[in-house]
Amino acid sequence: TNCILIGAPIDSGQRRPGCLMGPAAYRVAGLARTLESLGHAVEDRGDLAHGALRPADCANPAVHSLAETVAWTEALAEAVRTALPAGLPITLGGDHSLALGTVAGAAEHAQEIGRPLFLLWLDAHSDFHTPLSTDSGNLHGTPVAYIAGRSGFDAFPPFPAPVPAGNICMFGIRSVDPAEQAALQECDIAINDMRVLDEQGIVAPLRAFLDRVKAANGMLHVSLDVDFLDPAIAPAVGTTVPGGTTFREAHLVMELLHESGLVTSLDLVELNPFLDDRGRTARLMVDLTASLMGRKVFDRPTRSFA
Ligand code: ARG
Ligand code: MN
Ligand code: MN
Ligand code: MN
Repeated sequence: TNCILIGAPIDSGQRRPGCLMGPAAYRVAGLARTLESLGHAVEDRGDLAHGALRPADCANPAVHSLAETVAWTEALAEAVRTALPAGLPITLGGDHSLALGTVAGAAEHAQEIGRPLFLLWLDAHSDFHTPLSTDSGNLHGTPVAYIAGRSGFDAFPPFPAPVPAGNICMFGIRSVDPAEQAALQECDIAINDMRVLDEQGIVAPLRAFLDRVKAANGMLHVSLDVDFLDPAIAPAVGTTVPGGTTFREAHLVMELLHESGLVTSLDLVELNPFLDDRGRTARLMVDLTASLMGRKVFDRPTRSFA
Protein backbone atom coordinates (compact mmCIF):
# COMPACT_ATOMS: atom_id res chain seq x y z
CA THR A 1 0.00 0.00 0.00
CA ASN A 2 1.09 3.57 -0.66
CA CYS A 3 0.48 5.32 2.67
CA ILE A 4 0.03 9.07 2.30
CA LEU A 5 0.62 11.00 5.52
CA ILE A 6 -1.24 14.30 5.83
CA GLY A 7 -0.34 16.41 8.86
CA ALA A 8 -3.34 18.32 10.21
CA PRO A 9 -2.15 20.54 13.10
CA ILE A 10 -5.64 21.59 14.19
CA ASP A 11 -6.65 22.92 17.59
CA SER A 12 -9.71 24.96 16.61
CA GLY A 13 -12.33 22.28 17.33
CA GLN A 14 -11.85 22.39 21.08
CA ARG A 15 -10.38 24.61 23.80
CA ARG A 16 -7.36 22.84 25.23
CA PRO A 17 -4.27 23.72 23.23
CA GLY A 18 -1.88 20.97 22.21
CA CYS A 19 -3.49 18.79 19.53
CA LEU A 20 -1.65 20.88 16.94
CA MET A 21 1.53 19.12 18.10
CA GLY A 22 0.02 15.75 17.13
CA PRO A 23 1.56 15.40 13.64
CA ALA A 24 5.03 16.10 15.03
CA ALA A 25 4.53 13.52 17.80
CA TYR A 26 3.52 10.82 15.29
CA ARG A 27 6.62 11.56 13.25
CA VAL A 28 8.85 11.44 16.33
CA ALA A 29 7.19 8.17 17.39
CA GLY A 30 8.27 6.68 14.06
CA LEU A 31 5.05 6.27 12.10
CA ALA A 32 6.72 6.40 8.67
CA ARG A 33 9.50 3.94 9.44
CA THR A 34 7.04 1.60 11.16
CA LEU A 35 4.87 1.50 8.02
CA GLU A 36 7.95 1.02 5.84
CA SER A 37 9.08 -1.90 8.00
CA LEU A 38 5.78 -3.57 7.14
CA GLY A 39 6.58 -3.28 3.45
CA HIS A 40 4.53 -0.21 2.63
CA ALA A 41 5.58 2.84 0.67
CA VAL A 42 5.19 6.07 2.64
CA GLU A 43 4.70 9.51 1.17
CA ASP A 44 4.69 12.24 3.84
CA ARG A 45 2.98 15.29 2.37
CA GLY A 46 3.94 17.42 5.38
CA ASP A 47 1.63 19.59 7.40
CA LEU A 48 -1.36 21.14 5.71
CA ALA A 49 -2.27 24.79 6.12
CA HIS A 50 -5.72 26.27 5.69
CA GLY A 51 -6.57 29.05 3.24
CA ALA A 52 -7.79 32.56 3.97
CA LEU A 53 -10.55 32.89 6.56
CA ARG A 54 -13.93 34.11 5.45
CA PRO A 55 -16.41 35.65 7.90
CA ALA A 56 -18.71 32.95 9.26
CA ASP A 57 -21.41 33.13 11.84
CA CYS A 58 -23.68 30.84 13.72
CA ALA A 59 -26.91 31.37 15.65
CA ASN A 60 -25.43 29.49 18.61
CA PRO A 61 -23.20 31.95 20.52
CA ALA A 62 -21.30 29.09 22.21
CA VAL A 63 -19.67 28.06 18.92
CA HIS A 64 -16.07 29.26 18.63
CA SER A 65 -13.39 29.22 15.91
CA LEU A 66 -16.01 28.66 13.21
CA ALA A 67 -14.21 30.45 10.36
CA GLU A 68 -10.99 28.61 11.10
CA THR A 69 -12.73 25.23 11.27
CA VAL A 70 -14.48 25.91 7.95
CA ALA A 71 -11.14 26.78 6.35
CA TRP A 72 -9.58 23.56 7.66
CA THR A 73 -12.56 21.57 6.41
CA GLU A 74 -12.06 22.91 2.89
CA ALA A 75 -8.30 22.29 2.91
CA LEU A 76 -8.63 18.74 4.27
CA ALA A 77 -11.43 17.71 1.94
CA GLU A 78 -9.25 18.71 -0.98
CA ALA A 79 -6.16 16.98 0.47
CA VAL A 80 -7.95 13.67 1.02
CA ARG A 81 -9.90 13.76 -2.25
CA THR A 82 -6.69 14.24 -4.21
CA ALA A 83 -4.72 11.70 -2.15
CA LEU A 84 -7.21 8.83 -2.51
CA PRO A 85 -6.49 8.00 -6.16
CA ALA A 86 -2.79 7.62 -5.20
CA GLY A 87 -3.04 5.56 -2.02
CA LEU A 88 -4.34 5.36 1.51
CA PRO A 89 -4.48 8.78 3.18
CA ILE A 90 -3.62 8.76 6.89
CA THR A 91 -4.47 12.13 8.42
CA LEU A 92 -2.45 12.97 11.52
CA GLY A 93 -4.44 15.21 13.84
CA GLY A 94 -5.20 17.51 15.24
CA ASP A 95 -8.55 17.46 17.00
CA HIS A 96 -11.55 15.54 15.69
CA SER A 97 -13.01 18.53 13.82
CA LEU A 98 -10.59 17.49 11.06
CA ALA A 99 -13.01 14.67 10.17
CA LEU A 100 -15.43 17.30 8.86
CA GLY A 101 -12.93 17.65 6.02
CA THR A 102 -11.36 14.22 5.65
CA VAL A 103 -14.67 12.41 5.34
CA ALA A 104 -16.00 15.09 2.97
CA GLY A 105 -12.98 14.41 0.74
CA ALA A 106 -13.52 10.66 0.94
CA ALA A 107 -17.23 11.08 0.15
CA GLU A 108 -16.45 13.19 -2.89
CA HIS A 109 -13.98 10.60 -4.19
CA ALA A 110 -16.39 7.73 -3.51
CA GLN A 111 -19.08 9.57 -5.45
CA GLU A 112 -16.69 10.22 -8.36
CA ILE A 113 -15.85 6.53 -8.70
CA GLY A 114 -19.39 5.34 -7.96
CA ARG A 115 -18.76 3.36 -4.76
CA PRO A 116 -20.65 3.77 -1.46
CA LEU A 117 -18.74 5.17 1.51
CA PHE A 118 -18.90 3.57 4.96
CA LEU A 119 -17.66 5.12 8.20
CA LEU A 120 -16.25 3.40 11.29
CA TRP A 121 -16.14 5.85 14.24
CA LEU A 122 -13.86 4.65 17.07
CA ASP A 123 -14.51 7.07 19.92
CA ALA A 124 -15.79 7.53 23.47
CA HIS A 125 -18.11 10.18 22.02
CA SER A 126 -20.73 10.10 19.29
CA ASP A 127 -19.72 13.56 17.96
CA PHE A 128 -23.29 13.93 16.64
CA HIS A 129 -23.95 17.55 17.63
CA THR A 130 -24.77 20.18 15.07
CA PRO A 131 -23.33 23.69 15.50
CA LEU A 132 -26.81 24.62 16.74
CA SER A 133 -27.11 21.87 19.36
CA THR A 134 -23.65 21.92 20.95
CA ASP A 135 -23.44 23.35 24.48
CA SER A 136 -19.66 23.34 24.63
CA GLY A 137 -19.36 25.11 21.28
CA ASN A 138 -16.48 22.77 20.46
CA LEU A 139 -16.84 21.74 16.83
CA HIS A 140 -14.89 18.51 17.35
CA GLY A 141 -18.20 17.26 18.73
CA THR A 142 -19.98 17.66 15.36
CA PRO A 143 -18.39 15.72 12.45
CA VAL A 144 -20.72 12.69 12.39
CA ALA A 145 -23.75 14.98 12.11
CA TYR A 146 -22.17 16.76 9.13
CA ILE A 147 -21.23 13.47 7.48
CA ALA A 148 -24.75 12.10 7.98
CA GLY A 149 -26.23 15.21 6.33
CA ARG A 150 -27.89 16.85 9.35
CA SER A 151 -28.79 20.52 8.97
CA GLY A 152 -27.18 23.38 10.90
CA PHE A 153 -23.91 23.42 8.97
CA ASP A 154 -24.72 26.50 6.84
CA ALA A 155 -21.26 27.99 7.36
CA PHE A 156 -19.64 24.86 5.86
CA PRO A 157 -19.52 23.66 2.27
CA PRO A 158 -22.54 21.40 1.66
CA PHE A 159 -21.47 17.81 2.46
CA PRO A 160 -20.78 16.24 -0.96
CA ALA A 161 -22.75 13.01 -0.59
CA PRO A 162 -24.12 12.44 2.91
CA VAL A 163 -23.32 8.99 4.26
CA PRO A 164 -26.52 7.02 4.93
CA ALA A 165 -27.01 6.25 8.64
CA GLY A 166 -26.94 2.54 7.81
CA ASN A 167 -23.36 2.93 6.54
CA ILE A 168 -22.12 4.44 9.82
CA CYS A 169 -20.94 2.32 12.73
CA MET A 170 -19.67 3.56 16.10
CA PHE A 171 -17.48 1.61 18.52
CA GLY A 172 -16.41 2.43 22.06
CA ILE A 173 -19.14 4.96 22.85
CA ARG A 174 -19.59 5.94 26.51
CA SER A 175 -20.35 9.67 26.53
CA VAL A 176 -23.36 11.02 24.66
CA ASP A 177 -24.98 14.40 25.38
CA PRO A 178 -28.82 14.61 25.62
CA ALA A 179 -29.21 16.44 22.27
CA GLU A 180 -27.05 13.82 20.55
CA GLN A 181 -28.99 11.03 22.20
CA ALA A 182 -32.27 12.43 20.91
CA ALA A 183 -30.94 12.77 17.37
CA LEU A 184 -29.32 9.32 17.37
CA GLN A 185 -32.62 7.76 18.40
CA GLU A 186 -34.15 9.12 15.19
CA CYS A 187 -31.71 7.35 12.87
CA ASP A 188 -30.21 3.91 12.51
CA ILE A 189 -26.52 4.49 13.04
CA ALA A 190 -25.11 1.29 14.60
CA ILE A 191 -23.97 2.23 18.10
CA ASN A 192 -21.67 -0.32 19.66
CA ASP A 193 -21.28 1.38 23.00
CA MET A 194 -19.07 -0.09 25.72
CA ARG A 195 -22.02 -2.06 27.09
CA VAL A 196 -22.40 -3.84 23.75
CA LEU A 197 -18.65 -4.56 23.62
CA ASP A 198 -18.71 -5.86 27.22
CA GLU A 199 -21.48 -8.29 26.33
CA GLN A 200 -20.62 -9.29 22.76
CA GLY A 201 -16.93 -8.53 22.46
CA ILE A 202 -15.28 -6.87 19.47
CA VAL A 203 -15.44 -9.64 16.90
CA ALA A 204 -19.13 -10.25 16.27
CA PRO A 205 -20.27 -6.61 15.93
CA LEU A 206 -17.22 -5.64 13.85
CA ARG A 207 -17.52 -8.63 11.50
CA ALA A 208 -21.21 -7.84 10.99
CA PHE A 209 -20.33 -4.31 9.89
CA LEU A 210 -17.37 -5.36 7.72
CA ASP A 211 -19.53 -7.96 5.98
CA ARG A 212 -21.90 -5.19 4.95
CA VAL A 213 -19.08 -3.00 3.66
CA LYS A 214 -17.75 -5.91 1.64
CA ALA A 215 -21.13 -6.90 0.23
CA ALA A 216 -21.63 -3.34 -1.03
CA ASN A 217 -18.09 -3.05 -2.46
CA GLY A 218 -17.81 -0.02 -0.19
CA MET A 219 -14.95 2.29 0.63
CA LEU A 220 -14.26 2.42 4.37
CA HIS A 221 -13.08 5.47 6.26
CA VAL A 222 -11.86 4.80 9.83
CA SER A 223 -11.71 7.68 12.32
CA LEU A 224 -9.74 6.77 15.45
CA ASP A 225 -10.08 9.13 18.43
CA VAL A 226 -7.46 8.62 21.18
CA ASP A 227 -10.26 8.58 23.77
CA PHE A 228 -11.59 5.34 22.21
CA LEU A 229 -8.84 3.85 24.39
CA ASP A 230 -8.99 3.61 28.14
CA PRO A 231 -7.28 6.63 29.78
CA ALA A 232 -5.04 4.24 31.74
CA ILE A 233 -3.24 3.29 28.51
CA ALA A 234 -3.79 6.53 26.55
CA PRO A 235 -3.57 9.58 28.81
CA ALA A 236 -2.72 12.14 26.09
CA VAL A 237 -6.20 13.42 25.29
CA GLY A 238 -8.22 16.38 26.56
CA THR A 239 -11.49 14.47 26.85
CA THR A 240 -10.70 11.29 28.79
CA VAL A 241 -13.64 9.09 29.73
CA PRO A 242 -13.15 6.09 32.02
CA GLY A 243 -14.11 2.61 30.85
CA GLY A 244 -12.53 2.67 27.40
CA THR A 245 -11.22 -0.15 25.28
CA THR A 246 -8.24 -2.17 26.46
CA PHE A 247 -4.92 -2.60 24.68
CA ARG A 248 -5.97 -5.95 23.22
CA GLU A 249 -9.50 -4.87 22.28
CA ALA A 250 -8.09 -1.94 20.32
CA HIS A 251 -5.43 -4.06 18.61
CA LEU A 252 -8.06 -6.68 17.77
CA VAL A 253 -10.16 -4.02 16.01
CA MET A 254 -7.11 -3.07 13.96
CA GLU A 255 -6.16 -6.68 13.17
CA LEU A 256 -9.66 -7.47 11.94
CA LEU A 257 -9.65 -4.31 9.84
CA HIS A 258 -6.36 -5.39 8.27
CA GLU A 259 -7.67 -8.86 7.49
CA SER A 260 -10.75 -7.37 5.86
CA GLY A 261 -8.63 -5.41 3.39
CA LEU A 262 -11.44 -2.84 3.26
CA VAL A 263 -9.96 0.31 4.81
CA THR A 264 -9.40 3.11 2.28
CA SER A 265 -8.65 6.10 4.56
CA LEU A 266 -7.77 6.73 8.20
CA ASP A 267 -7.79 9.59 10.72
CA LEU A 268 -5.68 9.60 13.90
CA VAL A 269 -7.23 12.30 16.08
CA GLU A 270 -7.25 14.09 19.43
CA LEU A 271 -3.69 13.18 20.46
CA ASN A 272 -2.49 16.01 22.72
CA PRO A 273 1.25 15.41 23.16
CA PHE A 274 1.39 18.10 25.84
CA LEU A 275 -0.62 15.74 28.08
CA ASP A 276 1.35 12.63 27.25
CA ASP A 277 3.49 10.50 29.53
CA ARG A 278 6.88 10.16 27.79
CA GLY A 279 5.29 9.59 24.40
CA ARG A 280 3.41 6.44 25.36
CA THR A 281 0.10 7.49 23.81
CA ALA A 282 1.76 8.56 20.56
CA ARG A 283 3.59 5.22 20.45
CA LEU A 284 0.39 3.28 21.14
CA MET A 285 -1.38 5.09 18.28
CA VAL A 286 1.55 4.23 15.97
CA ASP A 287 1.40 0.57 17.09
CA LEU A 288 -2.36 0.45 16.46
CA THR A 289 -1.78 1.86 12.99
CA ALA A 290 0.85 -0.85 12.48
CA SER A 291 -1.72 -3.52 13.37
CA LEU A 292 -4.17 -1.96 10.94
CA MET A 293 -1.49 -2.09 8.27
CA GLY A 294 -0.57 -5.72 8.82
CA ARG A 295 1.68 -6.15 11.84
CA LYS A 296 0.84 -9.42 13.54
CA VAL A 297 1.58 -10.83 16.98
CA PHE A 298 2.37 -14.13 15.33
CA ASP A 299 2.22 -14.83 11.62
CA ARG A 300 0.46 -18.18 11.44
CA PRO A 301 1.27 -20.29 8.43
CA THR A 302 -1.95 -21.02 6.58
CA ARG A 303 -2.36 -24.71 6.94
CA SER A 304 -5.29 -27.06 7.08
CA PHE A 305 -5.73 -29.66 9.76
CA ALA A 306 -7.41 -32.33 7.64
N1 ARG B 1 -20.05 15.89 23.50
C1 ARG B 1 -19.03 16.73 24.04
C2 ARG B 1 -19.06 18.11 23.40
O1 ARG B 1 -19.79 18.35 22.47
C3 ARG B 1 -17.66 16.11 23.91
C4 ARG B 1 -17.19 15.92 22.50
C5 ARG B 1 -15.85 15.28 22.47
N2 ARG B 1 -15.44 15.08 21.11
C6 ARG B 1 -14.23 14.67 20.77
N3 ARG B 1 -13.97 14.60 19.47
N4 ARG B 1 -13.33 14.39 21.68
O2 ARG B 1 -18.31 18.97 23.78
MN1 MN C 1 -5.08 29.08 11.81
MN1 MN D 1 -14.20 12.33 18.70
MN1 MN E 1 -13.84 11.48 21.77
